[in-house]
Amino acid sequence: MILIIYAHPYPDKSTVNAAMLKQAATHPDVVIRSLYALYPDFNIDVEAEQRAVEKADLVVLQHPMYWYSYPPLMKLWIDNVFTHGWAYGKHAHALKDKPLLWAVTTGGDEDHFGIGAHPGFSVLAQPLQATAIYCHMRWLEPVVFHGAYTADPTALHTHLEYYSARLTAGKED
Ligand SMILES: Cc1cc2nc3c(=O)[nH]c(=O)nc-3n(C[C@H](O)[C@H](O)[C@H](O)COP(=O)(O)O)c2cc1C
Repeated sequence: MILIIYAHPYPDKSTVNAAMLKQAATHPDVVIRSLYALYPDFNIDVEAEQRAVEKADLVVLQHPMYWYSYPPLMKLWIDNVFTHGWAYGKHAHALKDKPLLWAVTTGGDEDHFGIGAHPGFSVLAQPLQATAIYCHMRWLEPVVFHGAYTADPTALHTHLEYYSARLTAGKED
């Protein structure tokens, strides 16, 4: 099972993430948990989330980039769900060897992340990558779509095909 943890604060206004989710839903073994729909009060059901993660062969965190990071409910999901004794600690094994795929969209184009005071995109991946390593997950090469505001249909189509292929490959990985 491929588990997609999806956090978009304004899903009705989404173009790219909505299209990615629609594409992902065509996979027969995808389970999508839309955090802003499930937990509008931010009261995350930790048990339910941990059971879902345990069943997953691939865990995907999909969201738009917000201030060079996650939307708040995605951050809270990690904070609450990755508990001591389950995600990390001496006897924790729930996440061991589970692949983690970060699927993120950005308003900025690729150049935006490589110039001046901007830190470069790979640096922005480090907190999640470090989390994955700490919990003994397998970090996969992220799926990134830059320039979401100005995406032309061909680029979006190519990205959707790529995302679909990465979901299949990540599960078999
Ligand atoms: C509050 C807020 C913060 C954002 N921060 C960033 C950012 O730090 N870097 C960036 O490239 N885009 C940023 N964006 C743009 C979003 O990443 C972009 O709207 C989103 O990826 C588009 O995907 P969608 O079509 O699924 O909504 C931000 C947008 C909002 C509303």
